[in-house]
Amino acid sequence: MEITNQDRERIRFENVSMEFQTASGPLEVVHDVSFSINQGDFVSLVGPSGCGKTTLLSIAAGFINPASGSVTLDGHPIVGPGPDRGVMFQEYGVFPWLTVEQNIAFGLNLKANRGRDSQQKKEIVDTYLKLMRLEAFRKAYPKQLSGGMRQRLALARTYAVHPEFVLMDEPFGALDAQTRSAMHDLLLDVLYAEGKTVLLITHSVEEAVYLSNKVFVISARPARIREVVEIPFPYPRHHDLQETEEFGALRSHIHQMVMREYAAQEAQSSPPGTA
Ligand SMILES: Nc1ncnc2c1ncn2[C@@H]1O[C@H](COP(=O)(O)OP(=O)(O)OP(=O)(O)O)[C@@H](O)[C@H]1O
Ligand SMILES: [Mg+2]
Repeated sequence: MEITNQDRERIRFENVSMEFQTASGPLEVVHDVSFSINQGDFVSLVGPSGCGKTTLLSIAAGFINPASGSVTLDGHPIVGPGPDRGVMFQEYGVFPWLTVEQNIAFGLNLKANRGRDSQQKKEIVDTYLKLMRLEAFRKAYPKQLSGGMRQRLALARTYAVHPEFVLMDEPFGALDAQTRSAMHDLLLDVLYAEGKTVLLITHSVEEAVYLSNKVFVISARPARIREVVEIPFPYPRHHDLQETEEFGALRSHIHQMVMREYAAQEAQSSPPGTA
């Protein structure tokens, strides 16, 4: 991928902390996190379940505000969601009351995307129905789809509005291995063509290394960045990469760190005396 202006900082977290109020008191979920995401970066977050990954993504999306610290986009504070950031949440975010094609068209009909005429919108919807292999289901409702199909529909919705930033929370988790691999290549193709900046959460270290130029290993809760692992492989990437020694070494390094954090998180959530 010919990444333009890769040194240009876009999103910046500075000393960000977050806590939630729970029945048993405040729970610190993010602790003093600082990082930046540059134009064209593909950043993946990996870390144990419950460590605060979705919380970090929700802060970048502008859905929640941190308890302290600052979060900026191009130097301006992020105070809410915006059409520049396409977000795909863990629970997919498809509207159950809309058909498949209406779901894909939904974002195109929002105010921020009103530049397109109805023929252009139809073409975009048709393109993504085809890419996601959902053409036969265009009139179906989400409840009539399988989990993997719903996930492909959510991907179509996210890509269809061509956001500058793509923020995705485990977007490929419900897919079979072959579809997942096809979706990886489609995402890399979209990035190549459109030069997007991506923040992705995944539990698959393999996926993180294959797709990203940087992997952030997140600690056990409260989330801190344990290590930023630079992934040096040039884009476009091909699946053969996954068979190389260098790929294997990065994968096992990250995997070991994640396992360590996973163990720390487990110890935290065990009742006293059992850890
Ligand atoms: N709105 C909320 N109110 C209270 N606690 C919350 C809220 N949202 C998240 N939490 C808590 O914050 C912690 C981090 O949650 P988060 O969803 O960010 O984790 P995660 O790393 O995305 O986990 P997973 O990999 O399982 O998706 C969890 O302990 C969760 O219970
Ligand atoms: Mg999550």
